[in-house]
Amino acid sequence: AENAVDFVMIGPEAPLAEGVADALRAGGVLTLGPSRAAARLEASKAFTKEICAACGAPTAASQTFTDPEAARAWVAAEGAPIVVKADGLAAGKGVTVAATVAEAEAALDAIFREGPGARVVIEEFMEGEEASLFVLADGEELLFLGSAQDHKRAFDGDEGPNTGGMGAYSPAPVLTPELTEAAITRIVRPTLAEMVRRGTPYQGVLYAGLMIADGAPRLVEYNVRFGDPEAQVLALRLGAQLLDACLACAAGELGSARANFADDHALTVVLATRGYPGACPRGERVGLPAIADPRVKIFHAGTRRVDDQLVADGGRVLNATARAATLAEARRLAYAAADGVAWPGGFYRRDIGWRALAPAEA
Ligand code: AMP
Ligand code: GLY
Repeated sequence: AENAVDFVMIGPEAPLAEGVADALRAGGVLTLGPSRAAARLEASKAFTKEICAACGAPTAASQTFTDPEAARAWVAAEGAPIVVKADGLAAGKGVTVAATVAEAEAALDAIFREGPGARVVIEEFMEGEEASLFVLADGEELLFLGSAQDHKRAFDGDEGPNTGGMGAYSPAPVLTPELTEAAITRIVRPTLAEMVRRGTPYQGVLYAGLMIADGAPRLVEYNVRFGDPEAQVLALRLGAQLLDACLACAAGELGSARANFADDHALTVVLATRGYPGACPRGERVGLPAIADPRVKIFHAGTRRVDDQLVADGGRVLNATARAATLAEARRLAYAAADGVAWPGGFYRRDIGWRALAPAEA
């Protein structure tokens, strides 16, 4: 009451998994975000596998283990490549795509070293191209918010360590209208229906990470939130409609919401502090370019104001983002904005969008 909060959208997965949405709703605050029970779609990979099995959503074949010996025996029997996932939230660090059995065994050792109670999901390795699909859901009703592709590795050519994401664009050309429809019909809707059936309906943004191969989508994982930096490209494409849709969703009136897409494209380039995703210095001054073009926006992720100066204050610091009629034009505008940022301590990938703009190289 002190702050007269009308509406809360919960961004990251950790507070959702802790039940912050439940607490807010119990206090009468209009809230967008899944309950603690529904947030398990991200917080537990074993749970998501169980839901997929129950509703017939296509995904990688898998087994869940709590016994290290049984897990090792499974890896030995299956061989590589194979994927090893810690069951709980691990801030993007819980997944090992193992090219060899030795690598898979090392990943198992690391997970089981955490002590008793550790759970691991071992999955079939899926070939294909990854893309992400976003919907708002308020129970069984859903509203498609768009598709995107992320760039996980720190450096050009998909080299270097995994990060939270170094750039993204929307739409993802690999998700044709037919494949989008297939993913919604075979994966997202059955999942939402299964959550309703269990008495834990899903309300909020649902991010489906998909693997596309042989003209069909399979689920890689769910996130219970917008992605970062996927949110920036979706937001630029949807504009003010996005807030209206989020409000309608939180009020349980998603059926009345609309998301009209222009036939356009958005691309964002993440400017990060040198050293990211490792430890990086904070506090260096950042100079922003003057931007007159309404198609271009620089979003702030990790900045701070110190004595009227803008300074870098984290790993991922800025998102140079643009929307245009073609992806090539959006990329040109986004890079012009990124190049205009005066910040010697920053770096960014030069090849965001390569998969969509140069399919011959894919
Ligand atoms: P996750 O946190 O489950 O999204 O996994 C992180 C990344 O690991 C995904 O974005 C994929 O690139 C990769 N990955 C996860 N599971 C699989 C799988 N079964 N087959 C191939 N790649 C996978
Ligand atoms: N960019 C990937 C994520 O937010 O999970």
